Amino acid sequence: MLFCSRLASLAPLALACALFAQPADPVPALLAQMTVEEKVAELTQRGGGEPLGPDPAANARELDKLLVQARAGAVGSYLGACGAAHTNRLQAATLERSRLKIPALFAHDVIHGYRTIFPTPLAESSSWDPDLAERTAAVAAREARAGGVRWTYAPMVDIARDPRWGRIVEGAGEDPRLGALFAAARVRGFQGPTSADHAAVLPADRLLACAKHFAAYGAAEGGRDYNIADTSLLTLRQVYLPPFKAAADAGVASFMTAFNEVDAVPATASTFLLRAVLRDQWRSPAVVISDHSAVSELVAHGVAADRRDAARLALRAGTDIDMACDAYADHLAALVKDGLVPMPDLDAAVERVLRLKARAGLFVDPMTDETLEARVLLAPEHRALAREAAVRSMVLLKNENSTLPLKPGLRRVLLTGPLADSGRDILGTWAALGKGGESVTPLAGLKPLAARASFDLRHEPGCKPAADDAAALARALDEARQADVIIAVVGEEETLTGEGRSLSMIELPAPQQRLLEALKATGKPLVVVLMIARPLALSWVADNADAVLIAWHGGTEGGSALADVLSGDKNPSGRLTVSFPRNPGQIPIHYNHKPTGRPNQPGNRFTTGYLDVPITPLYPFGHGLAYTTFALSPVRVASTVLQPGNVLTAQVDITNTGDRPGDEVVQWYVRDPVASITRPVKELLAFSRITLGPGETRTVRLSIPVAELAFLDASGNLVLEPGEFRLHAAGGAMRTPDVVLTLKPKM
Ligand code: GLC
Repeated sequence: MLFCSRLASLAPLALACALFAQPADPVPALLAQMTVEEKVAELTQRGGGEPLGPDPAANARELDKLLVQARAGAVGSYLGACGAAHTNRLQAATLERSRLKIPALFAHDVIHGYRTIFPTPLAESSSWDPDLAERTAAVAAREARAGGVRWTYAPMVDIARDPRWGRIVEGAGEDPRLGALFAAARVRGFQGPTSADHAAVLPADRLLACAKHFAAYGAAEGGRDYNIADTSLLTLRQVYLPPFKAAADAGVASFMTAFNEVDAVPATASTFLLRAVLRDQWRSPAVVISDHSAVSELVAHGVAADRRDAARLALRAGTDIDMACDAYADHLAALVKDGLVPMPDLDAAVERVLRLKARAGLFVDPMTDETLEARVLLAPEHRALAREAAVRSMVLLKNENSTLPLKPGLRRVLLTGPLADSGRDILGTWAALGKGGESVTPLAGLKPLAARASFDLRHEPGCKPAADDAAALARALDEARQADVIIAVVGEEETLTGEGRSLSMIELPAPQQRLLEALKATGKPLVVVLMIARPLALSWVADNADAVLIAWHGGTEGGSALADVLSGDKNPSGRLTVSFPRNPGQIPIHYNHKPTGRPNQPGNRFTTGYLDVPITPLYPFGHGLAYTTFALSPVRVASTVLQPGNVLTAQVDITNTGDRPGDEVVQWYVRDPVASITRPVKELLAFSRITLGPGETRTVRLSIPVAELAFLDASGNLVLEPGEFRLHAAGGAMRTPDVVLTLKPKM
């Protein structure tokens, strides 16, 4: 296949055209010709970002180093290289002297958008809309491909039950079933319609996806990033692995190993995870890449004597690519020559990487059309989707006296809080190429609303994100006393969230808390808008604000979306996918907890509980309000007797009992009260979003194979036991009584 036209377009580099007379499958022939050094290069990944420092001369020197190593054929893939011109330059240098013309693969952390930034993944999961996640991932892929990226290190599918862990923001919350649905949706969004086919070349606007961090990274002890994740094999199977399995079933092209140990073996060297589970049980041919420097970190873990030993352990366990620490580059060739790494192990890893490159279309056309970026990045339809996603992600936690939506006839509104006009913080962590200056902040979003509704919008931050400012506070209070309503945008600067940003105390920063208390003292209606990445302990806010809306780090269009919701143009419909604790002392806290032998009885100290707080969260998983109200009928079932192999069907009627249209998320929960092992007090079985007009009633149907009532055992087998099951339906703020079902034994 001739891609000469692409190279020729790089006239300054005057590169010879390389002809790819491609057989149907170039991999076997390539592998047969490769030297050990060329094979090791394919397993080596280094940083490749364009040098963009303040000193042009230093940038030129750094770029030259990148090009020299590219020409030397030392790097099979790059982390962080993006921008069509830059990736083309690196690719041309790679191909210029490459003996076998194997293109380089460019990877980037495109977690929730590339240049158009969507709500953070945890925020987006609050939409309970996997199709939305698939659509936003597809747009992120389209933009990233225009920038020369072909592989994203997403979706992050770690189940997290501990908001002290900064990375809870990157996943889909605490429930394995919902997490699995979002994992598969995001994989399909990134990889496109051929996602399930590892042999198919991805469409030109899609990305290779990467399920991370394999596995149980979210179980970090103490919520402390990079700490051990000490979980039983049963909990690993039932809670942490299901989203990875869903990603594997969706055809995810790669997995990234977690930093932590699993059952006392670091994931990067875990034959249990990388061979027994991923290859033998799940039959996945995906590439496994280590997390950043995780191969060398086997030494710090204490399972490798040195980096040479670490390289041996990691490769033999099944880690194909060494991200950014050169343990493979420095030691793998010698390990093979010394017989400590069998050539078949090396070849298997190289073959998977070559197939990954083939799937990325690199053997068809390794260059990027440099005219695409101007047309694709931040396209209006991408912004529109970002706005829609931010609206559907927002969660209304409280709305006393229907404080929201803002009433017609308002004269003067104070917008305060240190995050009310922060373009960068609203993008959240892992914002790729998102630019704060391209965001719509809450202030920018509310201005058109003020003009339309003819109210005077006043803006006074009142404090800094992490520092008091007496003068600013005085101005804010002065404005508050003259306002009809106060909107306070508070929460977390994005630099407090994401990787390496665990917190022992999960409260609003003290200056922001003081601002809220002073605003409350004015007696004016107080709307608290939370620009947060994780659950915080919000008891004071819950008790004292008139309305509380989680806007999360809503992305490029977060401010527009906030105006849509505050105005009532859009009805908030998000539901929590993670529990909000009353204080950190309750952590870990999650809805699908075990009953224990002494289930909590308030007032009875000899049952599981605390003396100082209830064991219930401040806001539970699944919680969320709307500008209207809903009612659920009792659940109806065709039969209370279930047979294995049958389908469980149930119905519930939902009515919009308010005077506005609204969305509800009807959630189905089940409990297995008696089993051979302890089972959670309830587990999410299925859910569906529904839009209802005022007064409208519709029937929501559940239809799910009885096999879905099974649980996973420690070996990963599904176990379906006869006996009683209790089923109920729920919405954002209500539930039905249980219906008792009986599963008959298998005949
Ligand atoms: C980081 C993160 C991982 C990311 C990788 C590359 O340490 O753990 O999620 O994809 O390095 O940036």
